[in-house]
Amino acid sequence: MRAIRIWFLAALSFGFNFVVMIYLASDRFSNMPSVGDVSLYRNSRYFIAATAKPAEADRSCSKSIIYFGLRQHWFTFCSFPEFAQYKHMIEFPRTVNCPEVNCSVKVDYTQNAADIIGHDIVVFTDVNEWMKPEMWDWLHGNRTEGQIWTMITEESPLYVPGVQPPAKYANNSFDWIDSYMSGADFVHPYGKYEKYCEYNRPPAIDIRQFLIGKTKLISWMGSHCETLQWDRMKFVEAVKQIITVNTYGKCGDQEVPWNNDQIILDTLGKYKFYLSLENSCCNEYLTEKFWRALEMGMVPVVLGAPLEHYRKLAPPNSFIHVDQFNTLAELAVHLITLHSNDERYLEYHKWRNEGKLISYGQEEQYVRPLNNETQCSMLGKLLNTDLKTQRKLDYFGPRWYGSCMKCGEKEWISKFLHAEDHQRSNSDIWA
Ligand SMILES: *[C@@H]1O[C@H](CO)[C@@H](O)[C@H](O)[C@H]1NC(C)=O
Ligand SMILES: *[C@@H]1O[C@H](CO)[C@@H](O)[C@H](O)[C@H]1NC(C)=O
Ligand SMILES: *[C@@H]1O[C@H](CO)[C@@H](O)[C@H](O)[C@H]1NC(C)=O
Ligand SMILES: *[C@@H]1O[C@H](CO)[C@@H](O)[C@H](O)[C@H]1NC(C)=O
Repeated sequence: MRAIRIWFLAALSFGFNFVVMIYLASDRFSNMPSVGDVSLYRNSRYFIAATAKPAEADRSCSKSIIYFGLRQHWFTFCSFPEFAQYKHMIEFPRTVNCPEVNCSVKVDYTQNAADIIGHDIVVFTDVNEWMKPEMWDWLHGNRTEGQIWTMITEESPLYVPGVQPPAKYANNSFDWIDSYMSGADFVHPYGKYEKYCEYNRPPAIDIRQFLIGKTKLISWMGSHCETLQWDRMKFVEAVKQIITVNTYGKCGDQEVPWNNDQIILDTLGKYKFYLSLENSCCNEYLTEKFWRALEMGMVPVVLGAPLEHYRKLAPPNSFIHVDQFNTLAELAVHLITLHSNDERYLEYHKWRNEGKLISYGQEEQYVRPLNNETQCSMLGKLLNTDLKTQRKLDYFGPRWYGSCMKCGEKEWISKFLHAEDHQRSNSDIWA
C-alpha cells in the first residue's frame, strides 16, 4: 500500500513540492506539523457555501457542470482507504444543492469530448499531461453556444501546459479561471495574512519562543530538482558556496524519516531561516513553500514572485527577498548578522502579534476542484452572468503567463534563469 502511495505521489506531481515531500512520508495529511494558527481558508469573490441541509431547489434555475479530464490523480487519490471521506467526490453523476442560491447543479465527468454537448459549464482540471492538440478541435467542435469553460489550477501557468490551448484557440477557449491570482474569477491563494482588529486580537505571545532551539542558520528541502524557468539547484549551490545550507529531501543531502511529523518539525525547526524557492517566478505566486515555512516558525528567504507582491500579500517584515540584495554575498552577510543578533532576528517575528496566517489544510486544497463549494460558486456566478456580454480571455496571455518573466530586478539573479534554448535532462516537467 505504501509503495503504491509513494508511486502515486511521485507521479502525482501536483506541484506542492514541499507538501508532497512531507506528505510522502506522513500517513495522513491531517497530521502535518504546524506552528501557529492555521485554519481552513475560504476566499472567493463568488464564495457561496454549500451546506449539508438541502434546500428546496428551483428546477428552472438548475444547471449542469461537466468535468473534462480528471484523468491523472483524483480517482487514485479518492480511492485510498485513508481518504474515504472524499470518496463521494468521484461519484458521478450527482446533484449538489446550493441553498444560498436556492438552486441545484448536476455534476458529471467525462473523458470524451462529445459528452460536453448541452452542459452549461465545462471544467478543465487534472488534465495536465493528458490533453492532446486534437482534443481542442473536438472540444470546440462539440461546444454548445453559450457554454462556459473554466480552468481550475493552483499551479503557475508554466506547469500546466495541458490546459494551454493551441494558439488558434487562445482567445476563444476559457471564460473563467480559478487560481491563486487576485485577478482570477475564483480566487484561491495558498495562504493569506489577516491583520487582527482590536476586537479579535488575542493575548500577545512571547516571540522569543522563536529563538528556542534555533541553533542553525538555514535549510532547504526539495523534491523536484529540475525546475522549468530557473535553476533552483544552481541557486542553492551558489548559496552553499558562501554559507552553510543544510539540504533535505530528494534534491538535498539528507533524507528525513517522512512518516514522522515531529521529526520534520524538529529538523527544520532548528533553523532560523528556510529557503522558500518557488518553482516559478510569477506575479502573486506564493505557495505552501512560503506559508508553511512561516507556520513552522522560520523566516523564509524567498525567490519567486516579485518583491512588491510579497510586500502586498505576506505578513509585514516576515521574509527576506533575494531581490533586496545587490549580490548574493550581501544576502549571506545579512543572514549571518541576524543569526548573531537575536533582537534583529526577532524583528522578523513581530508580525505574529499583529495578525494571523490562514491557509487550507492540504487535503482540502487538493480536493477543492471537486467539492460542493466550488460547484456552487460556479453555479452562483453563472446565474449572475449575462452570457451575451461574457468575454472569453486569453488566460495564457500577458495577464497570467506574461507575469512569469523574471525572478528579480537585480542583474545577479538573472544568471539563474534558464536560457530560452535550455535542454532539460528529463522530459517530465515535475522531475
Ligand atoms: C455536498 O452536496 C451533497 C448534495 O447536495 C450533500 O449531500 C453533501 O452533504 C454536501 N457536502 C458538504 C460537505 O456540504
Ligand atoms: C430562497 O428561498 C427562500 C424560501 O422561498 C427565501 O426565503 C430566500 O430568501 C431565498 N434565498 C435566496 C438567496 O434567494
Ligand atoms: C466531438 O468529439 C468527438 C470526440 O469525442 C470527435 O470525434 C468529434 O469530431 C467532435 N465533433 C466535432 C463536430 O468536432
Ligand atoms: C488575443 O487577444 C489579444 C488581446 O486582445 C491579442 O493581442 C492577441 O493577438 C490575440 N491572439 C489571437 C491568437 O487572436
